[in-house]
Amino acid sequence: MSVLTRKITIDPITRVEGHGKVTILLDGQGRVSQARLHIVEFRGFERFVQGRPYWEIPVLVQRLCGICPVSHHLAAAKAMDGIVGVDKLTPTAEKIRRLMHYAQIFQSHALHFFYLASPDLLFGFDAEPTVRNVIGVAIKHPEMAVQGVTMRKFGQEIIKATAGKKIHGTGAVPGGVNKSLSKEERDLFLRDIDQMIAGCRSALRIAKNYTLDHLAELSEFGAFDSIHLSLVREDGAMDLYHGNLRAIGSGGQIIFDQVNYQTYFDLLSEEVKPWSYMKFPFISKLGSEAGWYRVGPLARINACDFIDTPEAEAARKEFKALTHGKPNHLTMAYHWARMIELLHAGERIKALLLDPDLQGDDLMAVGERREESVGMIEAPRGTLIHHYRVDRHDQVTMANLIVSTTHNNTPMNRAVTDVAKKFLSGTTITEGLLNRIEVAIRAYDPCLSCATHALGQMPLLVELRDGEGRLIDRKISE
Ligand code: MG
Ligand code: NI
Repeated sequence: MSVLTRKITIDPITRVEGHGKVTILLDGQGRVSQARLHIVEFRGFERFVQGRPYWEIPVLVQRLCGICPVSHHLAAAKAMDGIVGVDKLTPTAEKIRRLMHYAQIFQSHALHFFYLASPDLLFGFDAEPTVRNVIGVAIKHPEMAVQGVTMRKFGQEIIKATAGKKIHGTGAVPGGVNKSLSKEERDLFLRDIDQMIAGCRSALRIAKNYTLDHLAELSEFGAFDSIHLSLVREDGAMDLYHGNLRAIGSGGQIIFDQVNYQTYFDLLSEEVKPWSYMKFPFISKLGSEAGWYRVGPLARINACDFIDTPEAEAARKEFKALTHGKPNHLTMAYHWARMIELLHAGERIKALLLDPDLQGDDLMAVGERREESVGMIEAPRGTLIHHYRVDRHDQVTMANLIVSTTHNNTPMNRAVTDVAKKFLSGTTITEGLLNRIEVAIRAYDPCLSCATHALGQMPLLVELRDGEGRLIDRKISE
């Protein structure tokens, strides 16, 4: 970096779950050389769980994050299944956990779309911040705001019925679950499911039409080739609860496929950079420069061969037709991909609710105790890894977590750099630049509190600094 590098700092990021900060580095000529998404807090969760008995972990890890506790609950429970030697759950336990997980996908994707993303999509990047927010949506499109609230609540009620509570539930335990779903609970959800699926269809329509209507603009907005990584089922289908690892290159070629995730550490490495607590994962054999990848809805739609629910599969085909079957690399296509998954989650929830196994009473499986195990799940934001070692006194001796947002660290930095290069002019931070940086980051739906294993909230400050580090401009978003 040149000594004449200038710094623009954006801190904190609004309408993103959790907190962080962005610095834009300028070269001596005032051009953007790099943008960095900083993570400013660190909670040391991996050390904190050491010495705790393994059966506490699925409940404890939910304290990592108030935003996606269910994903951590299930990833940890899957790891602890391995510790108690269970490779196959009972049908009831497997389906209850799937129902819990798809409900989490459903409520998280609905929340992101209706509360966080829709203002960008409906009003455009240059709309006044006083309009471009969820209140603006509620005034201009009241039916959408109501739909968002109802859909979120529907997902949360299923989580409550399967996990015991809306947050910090206890439903998944090593080797199974501790409750099934009563017929009364099931009938309540079945009563509303078709209306929920209708809500998914309309959200999908908005996201799809938005992408198609703005294709030229979005192709110049945080668009870059990348590898895509996700779990896929053995037959190549999308499966958000369980599968094997697949990575595809930017042209769709297989990098690895159907790899048992118990050996993820042979495939993936994490790079540490001095300016962020968030690590930078990459595919080891390709190195950190070439081996970084994207995860989450876009990566999953790109990587899977098909979706096994009819409406979401039809939507996936439309999505793929746009790129003639090749991977889609637009940052803003995350929204469309996310809404395909929302519809898939709705369809999947309905199919599960109609399955009589949910009322079964065989909840637990048993096996031979093991010392080490990995649990992996496709969380709303992408691949989530929990890895533990447990000694013969049942105490956790090692924990390694790689959360979805961390996988997307390099892509988010790329997207912000691309946007800053195109929209920064001079030494003034405009509202338009600020908006666009937020929009680019928000497309990835980062959970920054998860990524740092920290809790908290922060609002968006932009700072512009000259070559000597002196503050020359400063802007806070609303
Ligand atoms: Mg970690
Ligand atoms: Ni989180």
